[in-house]
Amino acid sequence: MTKPDDSTGMKKGLTNYGDAGFSLFLRKAFIKGAGLTDNALDRPVIGITDTGSGYNPCHGNMPQLVEAVQRGIMLAGGLPVKFPTISIGESFAAPTSMYLRNLMSMDTEEMLRAQPMDAVVLIGGCDKTVPAQLMGAASAGLPAIQLITGSMLTGSHRGETVGACTDCRRYWGKFRAEEIDAQEIADVNNQLVPSIGTCSVMGTASTMACIAEALGMTVPGGASPPAVTAARMRVAEQTGTVVVQMAKSRLTIDKVLTEKAFENAMRVLLAIGGSTNAIVHLTAIAGRLGFEVDLKALDRMGRETPVLLDLKPSGQHYMEHFDAAGGMATLLRELKPLLHLDALTVTGRTLGEELERAAPPFKQDVVRPFANPIYPQGGIAVLQGNLAPGGAIIKQSAADPKLMEHEGRAVVFEGLEDLATRIDSDDLDVKAEDILVLKNIGPKGAPGMPEAGYIPLPRKLARQGVKDMVRISDGRMSGTAFGTIVLHVTPESAVGGPLAHVRNGDRIRLSVSNREISLLVSDAELAKRAKEQPVEVPTAARGYRKLFLATVTQADKGVDFDFLAAPETKGTVPKA
Ligand code: FES
Repeated sequence: MTKPDDSTGMKKGLTNYGDAGFSLFLRKAFIKGAGLTDNALDRPVIGITDTGSGYNPCHGNMPQLVEAVQRGIMLAGGLPVKFPTISIGESFAAPTSMYLRNLMSMDTEEMLRAQPMDAVVLIGGCDKTVPAQLMGAASAGLPAIQLITGSMLTGSHRGETVGACTDCRRYWGKFRAEEIDAQEIADVNNQLVPSIGTCSVMGTASTMACIAEALGMTVPGGASPPAVTAARMRVAEQTGTVVVQMAKSRLTIDKVLTEKAFENAMRVLLAIGGSTNAIVHLTAIAGRLGFEVDLKALDRMGRETPVLLDLKPSGQHYMEHFDAAGGMATLLRELKPLLHLDALTVTGRTLGEELERAAPPFKQDVVRPFANPIYPQGGIAVLQGNLAPGGAIIKQSAADPKLMEHEGRAVVFEGLEDLATRIDSDDLDVKAEDILVLKNIGPKGAPGMPEAGYIPLPRKLARQGVKDMVRISDGRMSGTAFGTIVLHVTPESAVGGPLAHVRNGDRIRLSVSNREISLLVSDAELAKRAKEQPVEVPTAARGYRKLFLATVTQADKGVDFDFLAAPETKGTVPKA
């Protein structure tokens, strides 16, 4: 067994030249080449992940954040050392950002292991970056703290407040339905993202920011200040001071990311009407520490956790309004009876202690009182049935209540290309009461489980004023989208799940109240179809794609690579 490395600072993880003394001598010589003194090198060394990129406007405040973190670290007597890792900007990554999340997590993990540091500040914001960093840091095992880049401001279009990306989809839908013209869609394009920062609604980025705070991984109040504000910079400075304490007290990430922390995070996910993507990410992060997510228990938890946050797409407001309403402290106070208040946070204090220290409550209309929720149950329901033996999910808080108990005829698309070719054809045999089924957009299917589960409504129905239909796929959906959309059907069609064998005209039943998603076709008929048309599981000849296709797990395991999960299982979460 290798001896654990309990050395500190620049002595940590020496490069192997066969002579430890020489390795340290050489390392010091090189870092002194950057102008550092022995006095500086004796301090706790704090790594800072710099994920700035011209391809990632959601991280556009990275230079200012790094500067503020460095200031905080130095005020507390540490030595900041920033280093780059991969950055993933959601709309700039092909085939999908999810395809690259595990690569970023591996980059983060290995750089945390390889380079000498006593603790690390993870700076992320855009959808996949925060989960990737938490996954990597969980595996590396150092003291780690998350700093969120912060949300963008809202824009104004012809007198209406707009923000990415719920309104992006809404306006694009209007354009497709020919309700607005080319000039208006061009005008609103200038307003949807009026500043740097992450999407301003409760999409995946905002969800993961709230989850990071609920996990105890950010300083208190770290989730909500917008990217361009002084408050965000103060959070960054404070993150710098806290991380030095973490390094000194060796507050490693496993002491924060406990079962209780994951349960708190799940409560928060349900209560904020958060992005469905967060289930996949939480599953992957928990998996790195040996916890398996029990989807049925999560569903039970959802039945007693109301949606309290009135933010788009489930509600009305935007992240800047949540921040003005007191941010996570306001929400956590309402959820107090359901939380583990003794869960430890990065400050070394418990969640309960931090709530006691938070500013007093005041009158606001963004976080509803527990007794008067925006939606009586959690935002996400877990479905089971012969169409999804490994489970599927629906964001019920963003669905049309009239469609949540529905039986209809399947209109099937074999993949994204098929969808693009036929969805807008006037010849498509489709009616408003049909169910749209899209195959081959799961983890291996596209690959990378694209956010294409938000299947566009056929143009001819959109023109008739149809606003929602039941849609089913093995893909994901952006947290900013809305509709009666069943996602993450597991196992996916590309590996031969039942979804692969759905045919045009089959009947499908969705019952959210019974948590059911059923294909009304006999087992014998499904077996016959599987024999007639066997599925060819996708593979690749080389590179990252080969690794991805060979090792990526299904949605119920977090879409992580199978060799990255913790080798031993510690238990399941939640315990509800
Ligand atoms: Fe980066 Fe939405 S595109 S957070």
